[in-house]
Amino acid sequence: MKFKEKFIDKYSKLTDFEEYKESVVRNFARKSIRINTLDYTIKEVKKSLERDGWLLRQIPWCRTGFFIEHSTGRRDIGNTKQHKKGMFFSQGAPSMIPSLLMNISGKAKVLDMCAAPGGKTHHLACLMNNKGYLLANEPNNFRKRILKLNLERCGVENVAFDSQNGEDYTNNEKFDAILIDAPCTGSGLIKGKIARTKKLLREWNPKITTKYAKKQRWMLEAAIKHLRKHGRIVYSTCSMEPEEDELLVDDFIKDHDDFKLLKNIRVEGYKVKSSLKDYIKIWPQYYDTNGFFVAVIERK
Ligand SMILES: C[S@@+](CC[C@H](N)C(=O)[O-])C[C@H]1O[C@@H](n2cnc3c(N)ncnc32)[C@H](O)[C@@H]1O
Repeated sequence: MKFKEKFIDKYSKLTDFEEYKESVVRNFARKSIRINTLDYTIKEVKKSLERDGWLLRQIPWCRTGFFIEHSTGRRDIGNTKQHKKGMFFSQGAPSMIPSLLMNISGKAKVLDMCAAPGGKTHHLACLMNNKGYLLANEPNNFRKRILKLNLERCGVENVAFDSQNGEDYTNNEKFDAILIDAPCTGSGLIKGKIARTKKLLREWNPKITTKYAKKQRWMLEAAIKHLRKHGRIVYSTCSMEPEEDELLVDDFIKDHDDFKLLKNIRVEGYKVKSSLKDYIKIWPQYYDTNGFFVAVIERK
């Protein structure tokens, strides 16, 4: 696998490049699932999967999340009867963090601005116990269909749908919490000797973030128009690029006196490993997963 000089230069300033590289090329990101607690108990789903040879290991920061492997090495957890029945949602372990930081209950009004294929929307519905009001926005019609099918499969009932571009988002409603799981370069989704990894490394260039960073910033600007006082925005990406992550959020906060960045954000069970203490930045080598970034912003 070939890493460009400029990539090595940039990433060496951000993390331990040798550890990062070793982790990226070693194996695929660990597979994981989150149990659909709207319709099933953790115990019954575990029992059913274990009977079929799947081995589940608790994800330390998500009570309903499990790393999953099969005794034969198969990885197609999506091709199981348990998946068809809606017993779980396939979701990367770091992706379980944003919904946990939304600080919501069944009374909340929540907007999920970039919702498909629905992993986080489903997690939010579970945390809200299928109550309150959850609005799932997804502008791509093909992906919106998949989103709807996934949420139907998992018995989500408190959701309505919208399909606007996040950066121009308009609505008469004000929300208690907004999730922006933004479209991004995806440079965190790199673990495994697969075509996607090779393509990402081939296409990566120092300007790769420009287009996305603009869109992400406009999404934040649009979201704040729909956030109530003391409301919260959770912003996440599967990018490792600071221009889409910590630098973008820092700039946003500098330009908005009426917003604050939540400092030292914590999720129980998640051990902070990055030097960026006010953000959750997960590098692939930390937990043998893909990379991920999360920030939490609040209206004062
Ligand atoms: C990282 S994915 C979201 C994953 C999803 N939150 C989940 O957990 O399953 C980003 C999504 O944003 C959508 N998207 C792309 N451009 C968008 C835009 N301008 N506004 C809102 N969403 C957009 C993509 O179609 C994609 O479904």
